Amino acid sequence: PDSELEDRFGRRFAYLRLSITDVCNFRCEYCLPDGYQGRPTGFLHQAEIGRLVRSFAELGIRKLRITGGEPLVRKDALAIIAEAAATPGIEKVALTTNAFNLARQAEALREAGLSAINISLDSLNPEGFERITGDKRFDKVMAGIDAAIAAGIPSVKINTVLLGGLNDHEVPDFMEFVRERPVAVRFIELMQTADNGEYFRRRHVSGQTVADRLQAAGWVPQKRGETDGPAVEYTHPDYAGRIGLIAPYAPGFCDGCNRLRVTARGGLRLCLFGNGTHDLRPLLQDDADMPALKRSICQTLVGKEVSHHLHEGDFGDTPHLASTGG
Ligand code: GTP
Ligand code: 5AD
Ligand code: SF4
Repeated sequence: PDSELEDRFGRRFAYLRLSITDVCNFRCEYCLPDGYQGRPTGFLHQAEIGRLVRSFAELGIRKLRITGGEPLVRKDALAIIAEAAATPGIEKVALTTNAFNLARQAEALREAGLSAINISLDSLNPEGFERITGDKRFDKVMAGIDAAIAAGIPSVKINTVLLGGLNDHEVPDFMEFVRERPVAVRFIELMQTADNGEYFRRRHVSGQTVADRLQAAGWVPQKRGETDGPAVEYTHPDYAGRIGLIAPYAPGFCDGCNRLRVTARGGLRLCLFGNGTHDLRPLLQDDADMPALKRSICQTLVGKEVSHHLHEGDFGDTPHLASTGG
């Protein structure tokens, strides 16, 4: 059967983003400038995640993205990915990571069945990287990207948060980066959260500036697939890779929303920003509760709103993106 997950606006959901930890070992200026400050406990256990994924797969979820925090800080991340990849109905398992430890794990991740990996990289030089992420491991991250390609993970993408005065001058360098490499670099427009207001005003650059530069250089936007995320990806005949743009402030951004989220402690979130969380954990303790869990998910979905309210300066209940899985 097709997806049973449909909202009041006729949007269908075949893509689940599941955070497996809030903890992150980086301190990106726009996200966790002081590093992770929360209590590093109480995240869903592997058995609970297994039931969650099986239930969502029965409801029509076909693609699962594992996020954090930094998912690879969890010792059982690989086991969670392997179990998800083996779940009937799940066709793609993807991972979003800062890649601090990827060079050592890329091969094992592919063997576990990982079909796609998105790696955060905000600068192509060590100084810019450290300035933005507060981390010195630029070389390890670059090695992680190469390892992911070499291991044959079918889709390798880079996430670059567009930051005025910090990396917006690197757009041509990123284009060069994909000339020979079969990867997609996606520029993400900085999103305002409850924690980063001043930073947002200082660094936010409209994604349209990148779109204009791409069009002028002969890049052509492609259609999004059914379980693709929100990026518009551009191709160019002279380049092996792609350049993408994630522009949440662009009109109509939410019209194509095809994904649901579950937080690291088992809260169902209908939007990255706001709508609150609906606690699924009580129904994750026993296989016998799976029918009730599925009903609860479908009932909650009715409350999904048509769009986020970022344009009105309302960032809902999102302190930073690590707390909601991005
Ligand atoms: P794929 O297309 O499956 O590769 O995934 P993706 O681009 O959605 O995933 P990724 O985790 O790499 O996210 C990249 C950026 O897109 C992050 O900054 C996310 O927070 C942002 N993003 C993903 N989905 C949404 C969404 O529904 N709303 C908003 N506002 N941002 C989103
Ligand atoms: N705005 C835009 N992107 C953000 N990310 C984290 N916080 C923000 C924000 N405020 C990005 C990370 C990573 C992705 C999962 O989310 O850089 O690439
Ligand atoms: Fe960690 Fe990602 Fe937040 Fe950076 S953006 S601090 S890598 S969760």
